[in-house]
Amino acid sequence: ASHPLALPVGVTLDRYIMHRQTAFPYATGELSQLLRDIALAGKIIHREVNRAGLIDLTGGMGVQNVQGESQQKLDMIANIRFKRALTNGGEACAIISEEEEDIIYTGNNNGKYVVAMDPLDGSSNIDVNVSIGTIFSIYRRITPIGSEPTMADFLQGGRRQVAAGYILYGSSTIMVYTTGHSANGFTYDASLGEYILSHPDIHSPANGQIYSCNDGNIDGYEDGVRDYLTSCRRNQYTARYIGSLVADFHRNLLKGGIYLYPPTKKNKEGKLRLLYEAFPLAFLAEMAGCLATSGHQAVLDIKPTSLHQRTPLYIGSPVMVDNLVSLLK
Ligand code: AHG
Ligand code: MN
Ligand code: MN
Ligand code: MN
Repeated sequence: ASHPLALPVGVTLDRYIMHRQTAFPYATGELSQLLRDIALAGKIIHREVNRAGLIDLTGGMGVQNVQGESQQKLDMIANIRFKRALTNGGEACAIISEEEEDIIYTGNNNGKYVVAMDPLDGSSNIDVNVSIGTIFSIYRRITPIGSEPTMADFLQGGRRQVAAGYILYGSSTIMVYTTGHSANGFTYDASLGEYILSHPDIHSPANGQIYSCNDGNIDGYEDGVRDYLTSCRRNQYTARYIGSLVADFHRNLLKGGIYLYPPTKKNKEGKLRLLYEAFPLAFLAEMAGCLATSGHQAVLDIKPTSLHQRTPLYIGSPVMVDNLVSLLK
């Protein structure tokens, strides 16, 4: 409570960001502006998501994205909204998105940051009114300011993230992010058009009783994972799996639990994408006292080699993740 940066529950996100900025005398404000741009895009997507069923925004585009997944209309809309917000904001020189194969250049070569994003996470839940989200990860560019950004700006590694977070469009919309000091959640009050600090300095329980995975894939899981799931059942833990990573992660973060997306028969490297799913959530997890591993190493220590690479992901309460890892070969 005596944290020098602590602000009371109820302050707005804008106020909070300003406060943090003045607490760090060397901060120049660009990162603050970038976070505000992302929050704004989140408001717009909140609106689109909430009226999607009314204005024919549900259903597929009839095309596949670079991942070989069928793209939903809202995937496209969220992608466009985010690109627009980040381009207009001017702080990001480049973006990568789940929905686009190549680097997206904003044209703002003086921007100091690059952003990796999953514009809409949980595509299979869009049309059925179930929670979905947005995930983002921010790096300070390593290429010279003024030049064209490159892949190297995105492949710095998870420990070089300067900020990361998600926006969950659930029973309420909440933005949870970190700049590497603490993890904080801001619930969106649509009647005010403001995000309000509702979950300051999140600390997840060290142990939990919820396990979250796609049980239908179990035949493809390695023995250690199956043994772990057996132990969960023996302990009569609770199975909860929404199928939107953001929502599953958020629940387990607050209540204590473990999320597993192991390699499967279909996805030998796991399904989730390192740069815009695993890295940002792993950064938040560590801030909140959780662990995130690929089974072999901490997710944040994985050396990225390509923009859309995948990784197995085991993330959540540290006691649970440790127990799982001890069963893996
Ligand atoms: P996205 O909708 O961004 O493509 O991500 C889908 C991911 C993630 O949200 C979710 O946890 C997982 O896919 C669900 O996969 P399964 O349907 O294979 O369980
Ligand atoms: Mn997808
Ligand atoms: Mn996703
Ligand atoms: Mn997505």
